[in-house]
Amino acid sequence: MIIYFSATGNSKYVASKVAEATKDFIKPITDITDRITLQQGESLGIVIPTYFYWVPSVVSDFLENTEIECEENTYIYCIATCGGTSGQASQMVGKLLEKKGKRVNAYFDIVMPDNWTPMFDANNTDEIAKVIKKEKPQIEKIVGHIQRKESGKFAKHTLPFVIAKLISLFYEPSRKTSHLHVENQCIGCGKCMSDCPVKAIEIQDGKPVWVKDKCTMCLGCLHKCPTFAIQYGKNTKKHGQYVHPEVNGGK
Ligand SMILES: Cc1cc2nc3c(=O)[nH]c(=O)nc-3n(C[C@H](O)[C@H](O)[C@H](O)COP(=O)(O)O)c2cc1C
Ligand code: SF4
Ligand code: SF4
Repeated sequence: MIIYFSATGNSKYVASKVAEATKDFIKPITDITDRITLQQGESLGIVIPTYFYWVPSVVSDFLENTEIECEENTYIYCIATCGGTSGQASQMVGKLLEKKGKRVNAYFDIVMPDNWTPMFDANNTDEIAKVIKKEKPQIEKIVGHIQRKESGKFAKHTLPFVIAKLISLFYEPSRKTSHLHVENQCIGCGKCMSDCPVKAIEIQDGKPVWVKDKCTMCLGCLHKCPTFAIQYGKNTKKHGQYVHPEVNGGK
């Protein structure tokens, strides 16, 4: 089983390509309510995006609160997708699972288009196309390691723990939903509300209202809004929207 979290499709794309090659199946973590039960000999893959060189809060909450029933020698691997630097994202999954007495065998990362548009420009389609072109060989290498059930730290875009930890401290303040706002072109379709993985949005009087102080800040609502009505701070409007071209958004 390959479980994944994905807001804009990168992690879902990787999960599905790995599943295709290893004859496995994928499941979004947002569809798993209480436990994961693996069959005898089944492996567990975990595919997640990197947030601030760390793990998205929706993923850490999930791993802390979900029971994993599997054999002691289950092959477990984690793949962190990132826009350039995964920091300690995949290793942190290992640390979270260690607390549950599970051992992650292999750690990977893969560079994909960056969906953190408060900084990165999603209008730069040439750059995005270049990054996407490099995805396949990276996935093939990862698949090889998984098929051979190899153990090791194969992630290549990591940072020392102390540096990643330091940067990860900026994640909490960035999660404040007060950074998000809706503009007039909203048509009240409700897609942002139904897609939000942490139910932070409600539609009130035909417009989204953020009903939680903090969310996981996946930016799925911003990138998948049909009228690009949701913005984060001042820069996202000029940086455009992104979803992986081969995946219809995240989940
Ligand atoms: C809140 C947030 C923080 C991010 N932080 C990082 C980061 O520290 N390093 C990085 O390389 N990419 C970072 N990104 C980019 C994503 O990790 C990357 O685009 C990922 O592949 C998106 O996955 P998804 O399409 O499955 O949601 C960040 C994205 C978001 C939304
Ligand atoms: S997805 Fe966009 S258009 Fe639809 S309700 Fe949300 S903000 Fe409005
Ligand atoms: S409110 Fe938007 S950015 Fe926050 S978790 Fe929900 S979909 Fe993601």
